[in-house]
Amino acid sequence: MVKVDKFIPRAIEHIKEAAKGKTIIALSGGVDSSVCAILAHRAIGEHLTPIYIDTGLMRKGETERISEIFGDMNLQVIDAKDRFLEALVGLKDPEEKRKAVGETFIRVFEDEAIELEAEYLIQGTIYPDKIESEGGIKSHHNVGGLPEHIKFKEIVEPIADLYKDEVREVAHALDLPEEICERMPFPGPGLSVRIIGEVTEEKVDVVREANAIVEEELLEKFGPWQTFAAVLGKGTGVKGDLRIHGWIVAVRAVGSRDGMTADAMNLPWETLQKISSRITGEIPSVARVVYDITPKPPATIEFE
Ligand code: XMP
Repeated sequence: MVKVDKFIPRAIEHIKEAAKGKTIIALSGGVDSSVCAILAHRAIGEHLTPIYIDTGLMRKGETERISEIFGDMNLQVIDAKDRFLEALVGLKDPEEKRKAVGETFIRVFEDEAIELEAEYLIQGTIYPDKIESEGGIKSHHNVGGLPEHIKFKEIVEPIADLYKDEVREVAHALDLPEEICERMPFPGPGLSVRIIGEVTEEKVDVVREANAIVEEELLEKFGPWQTFAAVLGKGTGVKGDLRIHGWIVAVRAVGSRDGMTADAMNLPWETLQKISSRITGEIPSVARVVYDITPKPPATIEFE
């Protein structure tokens, strides 16, 4: 286990020596990029510009919260919702959707980097990311993926030797809020992997609201490794006296060690009933709620 009190000053010194000019970092709100942003801010202060790209695929309240936490660090919030929605129009294939989000992310980030005349890039790569990409296990899009058309003088990876639990420990030592230190994994492509088929603004709104309800009901009380909602498609329902063709929302709550395998949580029936009645009651266009009981494998944790 890394000695946090030794690691922090060493990392700050390393950034000071490596980043000698205008430096940027893509903040995702996850613990890795947040830790890097704080370390870099302590190392080079004004020379750092953290960039947060609002893809429109973020969780409810996320953009506001990030602005609050990092607002005094010269944070640039880029509203790129329209660019992402446009890039996703007509795409139904999961891999094509992932690619579209990843590429749009890099384009938007590059535009900002060029405008800011950034010379250095800080990345929140951690040790398992390095191993996974070297071994070619997954081609996950991680927020902060490398811009292809800019030659940075240097790419600095201050936490590349740390495991996730070590990053969390450093996050606590840096006084980051608890919600960031202990945040559940959230996929780089955001809510788009929680929507089956084409991504539309309406589906994103439904999944965002449903996701917030699921988190409220499950996160603190049951401590799942990961929990969220997904929009599957449409089905028939009755609301009031009317038959409707409404959205089908799936609830997922899993226990896991590392995300490679997972088990659906055995949640109390009353809890599931409450989630179902809240989602159908609070989101008028939802007709049906289902609970996914499938382990990984054979299912993945996310739906796409
Ligand atoms: P799956 O769905 O493959 O997910 O069982 C395993 C874990 O990885 C997260 N995940 C991603 N994380 N970029 C990421 O940074 C991605 O493209 C991505 N896809 C899945 C997922 O949330 C789960 O924790």
